[in-house]
Amino acid sequence: MKFAFANWKMAQGKSQIASFFDAPSTELRNENLTCALFPSYPHLADVQTRLKVRNLPWKLGAQDCSTEPRGAFTGEVSASMLQEEACTYVLIGHSERRQRGPETETTLAQKLSQALAAGLIPVFCIGETESQREKGETESVIRAQLQVVLGLQDRILLAYEPVWAIGTGRTPTLAEVESAHKLIWQLCPKLQGVLYGGSVKPENAGDLARVSGVSGFLIGGASLKRGDFEKIASSLL
Ligand code: PGA
Repeated sequence: MKFAFANWKMAQGKSQIASFFDAPSTELRNENLTCALFPSYPHLADVQTRLKVRNLPWKLGAQDCSTEPRGAFTGEVSASMLQEEACTYVLIGHSERRQRGPETETTLAQKLSQALAAGLIPVFCIGETESQREKGETESVIRAQLQVVLGLQDRILLAYEPVWAIGTGRTPTLAEVESAHKLIWQLCPKLQGVLYGGSVKPENAGDLARVSGVSGFLIGGASLKRGDFEKIASSLL
């Protein structure tokens, strides 16, 4: 199975989402490809309705979930609420969340366990920063970040996203992508898939899709335009 996941971050409001769905489309459907959209929390139901109305077999995902199942946690959204809103997936540990919030091994483990208990499939995000790469620490960072998922690898998807490649237009070489994915598969052979993320565009998707060990893409900026998203997704077939 290949995966094309659109991480809309905080970039798509209601009207942009309407335009996305109204844009010309190839109505991509393929049994070997899972497409999923990750809108902001308030738009989950809207996106789900639009998918249903168009009979599009794409899945829904959320961008984060709470460490807690329920209770007095103002501003938080629990994994079971996401499941009630028809989510199949939830991103956990995206670098933009790791940079902003106090994400620790403990909070990440709690979120993973909440997501799995609610029946969601976590998409666990890892990746080195630019300075870590420059210091030759890429491998040790990947190893360390994978520790928390070793015992649950068969229940999750992984996204390898070098932090310096996110939203910058810069990507690692194909050989660097291959060696990171190879390491991840060696350490976690039972994962449901390993996605690459970081400045995936229609122009580079074909080459990246052919890298050994790449099961799909987590796409930010280029997923906001339906045509570009579908071009990237098609490159995986
Ligand atoms: P980008 O974002 O495609 O805009 O680099 C990827 C991501 O953050 O998941």
